[in-house]
Amino acid sequence: MGEFVTVLTDDHGVATIRLDRAPVNALNEQVWGEFGEAAAQCTEDADIRAVVLWGGPKVFAAGADIKYMKEVSYQEFFASGGGLQRAFEALARIPKVVIAAINGYALGGGCEWALTADFRYAADNAQLGQPEILLGIIPGAGGTQRLTRLVGVAKAKEIVYSGRFYSAEEARELGLVDCVHPADEVYDRAVETARQYAKGPYALRMAKKAIDEGIEMDLDSALRLETTLFTATFATEDARIGMQSFVDSGPGKAEFKQN
Ligand code: CAA
Repeated sequence: MGEFVTVLTDDHGVATIRLDRAPVNALNEQVWGEFGEAAAQCTEDADIRAVVLWGGPKVFAAGADIKYMKEVSYQEFFASGGGLQRAFEALARIPKVVIAAINGYALGGGCEWALTADFRYAADNAQLGQPEILLGIIPGAGGTQRLTRLVGVAKAKEIVYSGRFYSAEEARELGLVDCVHPADEVYDRAVETARQYAKGPYALRMAKKAIDEGIEMDLDSALRLETTLFTATFATEDARIGMQSFVDSGPGKAEFKQN
């Protein structure tokens, strides 16, 4: 349990990685470290079956801590070896479904935190953007890469070059968020969906791995990865349960054990 980042698991197997660093959840070095620990916990704990990222009801995260960053030299950043990137990589690799519930600002590193999730649910008051360019820097934790893979080259360039803030609705049109909910409902809606995924088969992990790792490869290699993982699903009890349930009761009735 970190000072700024906590992991709370409900009795449906959904963990919430909650960031709480007043006033705007700015990401400093300690937060990066605590994100890394939270990612490891969510990866390793078998009782955690899906994850929600949340910054609380007011703000998701206003980005890297500018007051800290403005004192850091090139050499210091170089020596730290990309601590925030490493933490976000660990979050992005959690082998379970992850949903970001975004209230308020998700800017810079805050938007990049949301990009580590499989899905982004935005509150109607959310504002998203990559304003680093206005500080004389570029996004440094996925904003030129995960963002581009999500929305495409031209839209990513518009977002990064302009540095402007986008409303939740604009972000939905761009494909940056998946859906928009009233601000006081967005967290509950994310948890509700996460609970559905928490009941899903072990194959969800295979599907995430196939998509996230496959997109980094050429098509032939990605298809071979898919074949390997498809074959691997036949080693799970869930595959037996799922197919037997279909034969006995029709589609969508299986109760999986996630093993
Ligand atoms: N880091 C450190 N402090 C921040 C901060 C940040 N990213 N964002 C806001 N704050 C601080 C403000 O300085 C202010 O502190 P004081 O009360 O001590 O003056 C406090 O939070 C409240 O902020 P505002 O008074 O500005 O509140 P607002 O409601 O008018 O605006 C805001 C809120 C839109 C978030 C605005 O503060 C803002 O634009 N923040 C900067 C956003 C940004 O540029 N993010 C990118 C950071 S760089 C990055 O993330 C690099 C990367 O890729 C890893």
